[in-house]
Amino acid sequence: MTSTPPPRPPLPLQRHARAGRLTAWAVLVAGASLANLAHADRAAGATIARQGAGGITACMACHGAQGEGQAAAGFPRLAGQGQAYLLKQLQDFASGQRKNPQMEPIARALSAQQMRDLSEHYASLPGWKAEAKPAAAAQPAGGARLAMAGNWDAGIPACFACHGPDGAGVPPHFPALTGQPNAYTRAQLKAWQAGTRGNDPQGLMKSVADKMSDAEINAISEYLETPSFYGRRE
Ligand code: HEC
Ligand code: HEC
Repeated sequence: MTSTPPPRPPLPLQRHARAGRLTAWAVLVAGASLANLAHADRAAGATIARQGAGGITACMACHGAQGEGQAAAGFPRLAGQGQAYLLKQLQDFASGQRKNPQMEPIARALSAQQMRDLSEHYASLPGWKAEAKPAAAAQPAGGARLAMAGNWDAGIPACFACHGPDGAGVPPHFPALTGQPNAYTRAQLKAWQAGTRGNDPQGLMKSVADKMSDAEINAISEYLETPSFYGRRE
């Protein structure tokens, strides 16, 4: 008898997706995984990140020396984000499915190989780590509550149901949210509402963002930047 690992438990996503859509999602996931089998050179990616290449600005100028991002400017953390997720974002900026005046020209200047190398590089850097959390937290409220429990009156699912416990991400396709600059998270949720970020599989994130009030967007964005206050912020 061959011993196969037990199947992964179904993602909460499956509760939110209609059955027919799941097939398309599975095809998309399989396709993305195959594309990622192509060889990626982490060291070459590190060089472009540090020095740029042929007219491409060094990524670290905006995303920080260790890919940690810049909170004040709203530049996102890349370090520790999943490789497939990062690669997809670069492809989406290049195709214009995800709009941003700074990233679109940079992504268009990158070759497919450079995109793979850079994604591999940033995925290999250490991600954001939560500080020690207080043990027993009171019933969470505000942003923490949205993250952990959602707001079912408005049909908003818990963010961490898809983005993983503590919002640390579920590679390959669900990005980490914790530790991202407040301004960055807010801008992404607004971009989905406005339709300028239209790259989420099956419109999953747009359907979440569309249900959120401005107050909820502000609360969750602030919470996710410093979630070490887990459960006792408000
Ligand atoms: C001039 C500043 C600047 C430079 C240089 C820059 N970026 Fe960005 N990058 C941004 C901004 C701003 C965003 C957020 C865009 C948005 O709001 O959608 C971003 C977003 C991204 C994202 C999406 C992150 C996520 O969590 O979805 C990736 C991936 C990325 N950049 C990779 C790179 C790489 C690789 C390079 C170098 C080749 C690079 N960037 C250079 C400003 C920059
Ligand atoms: C049903 C699953 C699901 C739920 C629930 C969900 N998300 Fe997402 N989210 C996704 C997927 C999938 C992506 C990646 C989209 C892409 O590939 O660009 C994403 C991406 C994001 C991003 C972009 C991250 C980056 O680095 O650019 C933000 C911000 C985000 N989600 C916030 C939230 C918040 C806040 C909530 C809760 C109110 C939430 N999400 C709930 C599936 C979900």
